[in-house]
Amino acid sequence: MDKYSIWAEEVTGKIREKMQWVSEKNREKIPYTTDCGGNYDDKGDMAKEWSADNGLNWWTNGFFGGMMWLLFQDTGNEKYAEIARRSEYRMERCLMDFYGLHHDVGFMFQPTCVADLRLTGNERSRRTALHAATLLAGRYNPEGQFIRAWNDLPGEDTRGWAIIDCMFNLSLLYWAFEETKDPRFYHIAVKHADTVMKYFVRPDGSVNHIVEFNPETGEMLRSYGGQGYGEGSSWTRGQGWAVYGFMISYLHTGKEEYLITAKKVAHYCMAALDESGIIPVDFRQPKEPAWEDSCGACVIAGGLLELAKAVPEQEKEMYKQSAFKILDAIYRTRSDWSRDCDAIVRNCSASYHNPEHHVTMVYADYFFMEAVYKLKGNTILLW
Ligand code: GLY
Repeated sequence: MDKYSIWAEEVTGKIREKMQWVSEKNREKIPYTTDCGGNYDDKGDMAKEWSADNGLNWWTNGFFGGMMWLLFQDTGNEKYAEIARRSEYRMERCLMDFYGLHHDVGFMFQPTCVADLRLTGNERSRRTALHAATLLAGRYNPEGQFIRAWNDLPGEDTRGWAIIDCMFNLSLLYWAFEETKDPRFYHIAVKHADTVMKYFVRPDGSVNHIVEFNPETGEMLRSYGGQGYGEGSSWTRGQGWAVYGFMISYLHTGKEEYLITAKKVAHYCMAALDESGIIPVDFRQPKEPAWEDSCGACVIAGGLLELAKAVPEQEKEMYKQSAFKILDAIYRTRSDWSRDCDAIVRNCSASYHNPEHHVTMVYADYFFMEAVYKLKGNTILLW
């Protein structure tokens, strides 16, 4: 066993132990973050149930289910499949109600429905995932060749907005193509990825968060800093969505330019990584306040580990080593294995300018767990 597997074995043991009680305690919930008492909230039980930024439509609602599927495949314990299906089946309502639903259906339905189908052959999950993929495809703007992000915002015309995060939602389109052989899903995913490669990825490997196109003509108009520090900055979670997202596109298409793009963004991240292995909210934020984002850290690490699997032997170590540095920093200094808190990973930030910093977020736990399983040699890729 190499040092990575030994480390991953130790951390997996802790994950199993903690998730044993966390899953039981929260079996009825769709968690996002923890309250000051360390208890998970429930996005499925909120008053504003139908808006995009709250309730059942919330973009992270697939991650608790995803964590359950990771545990199911690790342990074979049916309990985890049963808990995963609770959130999966509750989220079906979002598709029929439709209002408030957005581009992030991939984040919601890939680690729940597609995972369920792949791991257990559940037909009900197949139908829901195809429905979600069809709605996602319906957001495609053929003139600009991008998938529209979000819906109308008060006072703002966002019809031409696309965002880096959406690289992850392409998984659902690739899956729908592989499942049905209908190339519309494939074409939309590839066109969107090509647009992102052209307009989001800068020559130095840093990326834009939001790019606005003219929704009538498709012309690129401008970029926005979005959840990062500002225009022209480098939101670290967005960097992660890009490295890992281009790897997903590469794995589903075999297109070499996606691998090259993933490498370019990865090299930028590796150069920006400091000794501590701790990831800021934006690689170009001021030194103080030193806001961190452990979610971004775990997403970048996941992308680097996929990259390590795809490159020739002599290139693997540098990606693995950087991923390990990030994950080990989280493990040693930013994780909570106690019974005082339902979440594992600490110091997450939704965005630079959001006043809530250094909180817990369910998808940090998801991507941390996923990366640990990758290091352990677990081969299933839910994306
Ligand atoms: N919507 C994805 C993110 O906030 O990272």
